[in-house]
Amino acid sequence: MVDLNVIASLCKRRGFIYQSSEIYGGLGSVWDYGPLGAELKNNVKNLWWRSMVYERDDVEGLDAAILMHPEVWKTSGHVTSFKDLLVDCKSCKKRFRYDLIKTKSCPECKGELTEPRPFNLMFKTFVGSVESEANEVFLRPETAQGIFVNFKNVLISSRKKLPFGVAQIGKAFRNEITTGNFIFRSREFEQMELEYFTDPEESDKWFEYWVNERFKWYQQYGIKKENIKLRRHEKEELAHYAKSCYDIEFLFPMGWSELEGIAHRTDFDLKQHAKISGKELSYYDELAKKDIIPHVIEPSGGVDRAFLAFLLDAYKEEKVRGEKRVVLSLHKYLAPVKVAVLPLLKNRPEIVEMAKAIYKDLRGDRKVQYDDAASIGRLYRRQDEIGTLYCVTVDVESLEDKKVTVRDRDTMKQDRIDVSMLKKYIEERTR
Ligand code: GAP
Repeated sequence: MVDLNVIASLCKRRGFIYQSSEIYGGLGSVWDYGPLGAELKNNVKNLWWRSMVYERDDVEGLDAAILMHPEVWKTSGHVTSFKDLLVDCKSCKKRFRYDLIKTKSCPECKGELTEPRPFNLMFKTFVGSVESEANEVFLRPETAQGIFVNFKNVLISSRKKLPFGVAQIGKAFRNEITTGNFIFRSREFEQMELEYFTDPEESDKWFEYWVNERFKWYQQYGIKKENIKLRRHEKEELAHYAKSCYDIEFLFPMGWSELEGIAHRTDFDLKQHAKISGKELSYYDELAKKDIIPHVIEPSGGVDRAFLAFLLDAYKEEKVRGEKRVVLSLHKYLAPVKVAVLPLLKNRPEIVEMAKAIYKDLRGDRKVQYDDAASIGRLYRRQDEIGTLYCVTVDVESLEDKKVTVRDRDTMKQDRIDVSMLKKYIEERTR
C-alpha cells in the first residue's frame, strides 16, 4: 500500500487537495479541493447518486439545510450523547481522546492527565444578531436528521410505498479532537446517506441487503477485494440510536478503518421526533389497515473517505521501458479528466489549430484538458499521474489523413481514429 504522504503530496502538487487557508498557516483538519479534486469529488458523489437514486425506483433525493431547529439535536440524542471523553495533560496542555490513549500518562510528555471529561463534538453558532443561548444553533454533525424531519413531506409529495429510501449528500461538521491522517478525519466533511424506511417486520432482511449492496458497490468501482472488509459492531460500541451496525472497513495506510457504516436505526428517530414535535410521523399500511412507524436502515458513507480510498487503490507505480510510470487507474466514472488533447508539435500552427478544434468539440459533456507545454513523453506522464483515460495526439500526418492517435491509459495501446469518429469513440468508452 502506498504511503499516505506520497498521496498527500501528489494531491497538493497536481491540484487535488490543499490545506484550508494555507497562506495563513492552515486550519487544522479542514481541507480545500482543488481543480482535479473538485472533479473527482463530484464524480464520487454523482456515482453514488446514480446508484442510489437514478438506478432504483424506491429511492428519492433530498437536499436539506445544514442549519436546523436546535430541538432536532436534543431530540435525536446528539446534545446528550454525541460526545467524546477527553483528558488534558497538566504539563503540556495537550488534549487526547480517552478511548484512544493506551497509557495512564500523557502520550507526548508523560505528564499527569486530568480525569476524563465529556466533550460535545457539535459546532455551535447563533441565528440572528444576538449571541444568546436562546439563539444557539448547531452545524449538523450528520445529514440524516434532515431526512427524518422531512419524512412526511417526502412521503406525501412522492407518494412512495414502503419500503422506500431518501438519499442525501451534504456537508457535516464535527469538532474532532483526534485528527491527522490527511482527509480521513476532518472537521468539515461530506456524507452520502440513505435512510431506507421499511416495515418493521422486514427490517432485518433489508439491513442485510444494504450491507451487501454497499460492500459490492466499492468493489465495483475500484476498491480491491483484499483491502475491504465488514466488521460488526460490538454491543458496547453501538451508537445510541442503533440496534445493530456494520462498518465497511478499508485498509488505509494507517490500518483498517471505517469507510462507511450501515446501521439498523429501528424506529428510534421517527418515534423521538414524533413524540417531541407532536407531529404524527407514521405510515398508513393499507394491507394491515393501520398506521405503523417504519424502521430505518441507514448506509452512511463519507465522500472524503471514499475519495481517499479510491485514490489509494488506484495509485500504481510501474516500470515502462526502464522508466517509472505513476498511474492512477481510477474507474472511468471517477477519473477527473476523461480526455487530454496533445498537439505533437506546438510550433506548427495548423497542428495547434486542429488540436484546439478537437478539444473544443470534445469538452462540454466531460472534463477535457488541452496541453502542449512539454514533450510528448512528459505530457503522457503528467496525464497518467492524474488518471486521464485517453490521450489524443495530433501530429503532422493528422493534417493529411484527418486521423489522430488515441492512447488508452491502462493498456497504453494506441488506436488511429478518424477525427469524424472521435467523439463517438470517446462517448462509447466513457459512458
Ligand atoms: N448518520 C450516521 C453517521 O453519521 P458515522 O459513522 O458517524 O454515522 C458516517 O458517520 C460516515 O461519515 C463514516 O463512515 C465516515 O465515512 C464519515 N465520517 C464521519 N466522521 C468523519 C470525519 N470526521 N471526517 C471524514 N469523514 C467522516
